[in-house]
Amino acid sequence: MGFKTIDDVALAGKVVLTRVDINVPMEGGVVTDTTRIDKIVPTVEDIIARGGKVVLLAHLGRPKGKVVPEMSLKLVQPALEAALKRKVVFLERPSRAEIDALPQDSVVLVENTRFTPMEEANDPQMAQFLASLGDVFCNDAFSAAHRAHASTEGVARLLPSFAGRLMEEELRALDAALGNPARPLVAVVGGAKVSTKLDLLGNLIARVDHLVIGGGMANTFLAAQGIEVGKSLAERDMAETARTILTRARTAGCKIHLPIDVVVAREFKAHAPNETVPVGACPADAMILDAGPATVAELERIFAMCKTLIWNGPLGAFELEPFDAATVAAARSVAELTRAGKLVSVAGGGDTVAALNQAGVASSFTFISTAGGAFLEWMEGKELPGVAALQV
Ligand code: 3PG
Repeated sequence: MGFKTIDDVALAGKVVLTRVDINVPMEGGVVTDTTRIDKIVPTVEDIIARGGKVVLLAHLGRPKGKVVPEMSLKLVQPALEAALKRKVVFLERPSRAEIDALPQDSVVLVENTRFTPMEEANDPQMAQFLASLGDVFCNDAFSAAHRAHASTEGVARLLPSFAGRLMEEELRALDAALGNPARPLVAVVGGAKVSTKLDLLGNLIARVDHLVIGGGMANTFLAAQGIEVGKSLAERDMAETARTILTRARTAGCKIHLPIDVVVAREFKAHAPNETVPVGACPADAMILDAGPATVAELERIFAMCKTLIWNGPLGAFELEPFDAATVAAARSVAELTRAGKLVSVAGGGDTVAALNQAGVASSFTFISTAGGAFLEWMEGKELPGVAALQV
């Protein structure tokens, strides 16, 4: 991967425009999860330590090009100051003169870049304006790198650009997982719908040795092979596509693993009465809500054979107890192998991180991406514009 980092650029006396992703969950104007804010601290500290003045560019929510007070980054300023343990200057309408007048070790937070439609349009005038505010551009927002916006892609083309610490960490971890992995490599893909993950499955079967399919997606694959799934969530109109994926995987030498036993219930609700049955024995009036213990044992056997694992999506209805059991057990086995130094494990995507947190194992994985959509697009093998603009 050819990109510069903080270590490659002279920053003393420079204004460093720094694109971060502090698109954090809020409730009643207060940040409820500071993970993304905490993750940018090393970058800000490193820039200041090297004599750079930090001007943070970021978005919050999807204001659709309008000023939406509830999505003002001013609301994030207190959490940012707490994480950085320093004052942050908030600028609603930044100007270079104002930035220049601030002490060199200042941190500036500019208002939500998405308050104008020019941002998402990647308008050259906006990119030019942003570029005029700084001397160099640091992109630390891997999780927004799938957007070709003025503050992610446009400005990177106009200033000497480099990756921040988090971006660097994400790119290296993701390269170790899918770009240049130790093999055998297993991917675990769960979630509700095959139709939303077609590109991802297509890319993975060409690259991984084992592909574990879980969640509602597995039901679609089972049904496509004529296996009874009762009233389970399944996309029956995707049967042909699912069969094509199975055939292509066989040709590519990728072994697909579907559940061999399942937990079925008659109601989609927490603690619904349930039973574990072999796959194919789902009663016509029941639905599959989780993979069973035999499937988990089989997954543990596969994980133990592999050197690298990449995970996106839960294996069952993990938001409803006890149907989180397979996801939690499988995640714990990955965590154990990782702790023992036998497996490199990388996970990403909103639901996935929530599921791993629920299993209490997130910190035992080798790397957990902060990205949702960007992680998926990367798993799909797509070029991320914000990353492409950093290539040297
Ligand atoms: C995210 O939350 O995944 C990023 O901040 C990107 O947000 P977006 O999907 O609104 O572009």
